[in-house]
Amino acid sequence: MTFQQPKIIGVSGGSGSGKTTLVRMLRDRCSEMVGVDLLVLQIDHYYHDLAHLPQSERDSRNYDHPNSFDTELLRLHLSELLAGREVARPTYDFATHTRTGETVLIKPAPVLVLDGILALHWAEIRQLLTLAVYVDVDDDVRCLRRLRRDINERGRNVDGVIHQYLQTVKPMHDTFVGPQKLVADIIVSWVQYNERAVAMLAGMAAAWVNSSN
Ligand SMILES: Nc1ncnc2c1ncn2[C@@H]1O[C@H](COP(=O)(O)OP(=O)(O)O)[C@@H](O)[C@H]1O
Ligand SMILES: [Mg+2]
Repeated sequence: MTFQQPKIIGVSGGSGSGKTTLVRMLRDRCSEMVGVDLLVLQIDHYYHDLAHLPQSERDSRNYDHPNSFDTELLRLHLSELLAGREVARPTYDFATHTRTGETVLIKPAPVLVLDGILALHWAEIRQLLTLAVYVDVDDDVRCLRRLRRDINERGRNVDGVIHQYLQTVKPMHDTFVGPQKLVADIIVSWVQYNERAVAMLAGMAAAWVNSSN
């Protein structure tokens, strides 16, 4: 049997747009269709390790800027997976902004989904993608979703979430995240749970899985 190069679907979009929710629905749907789980890689695990900086400086960093990510390692890992080799994914601790030292063994799969606000930003990553998706939701809705999520699930308070939104999230979104729409193959409206878009993407992913067998 000839080796079929894996396919990568990049899923970008603003913070709180629903990328991770869409990716979860896509994985579930695809698994129902072909009985194979898509491999999901969160770009968040590829933040630079800031262990060399004092905690106060780590806390005040801009985590929405492209330079905050170790794209060299991300690119290397994607290339390895595309070549059919497994990689040791770093694990990132958001409380300390450091790599925990634990790694997770990621085995190559026919279809990989890359989930991150800047999945389409870097040319060297973008060129590895088979399909570039942008999850599109108005800023006010994203901001409210993020507020609720960060308070309910991440132990944050209203003032803290608003401060971070205005200081870094919004300016970085306007400068780097939003413009990715221009290089997206598909822009998915995610104001509602867009079942048709999920079905369409799952159909493509399932066909790629089948053609790899
Ligand atoms: N279509 C939707 N309608 C309403 N709420 C949504 C929708 N999609 C996601 N959410 C909620 O919005 C929040 C952010 O979603 P999440 O998938 O974590 O976004 P992202 O990964 O893009 O930051 C979560 O609390 C999630 O449950
Ligand atoms: Mg997410």
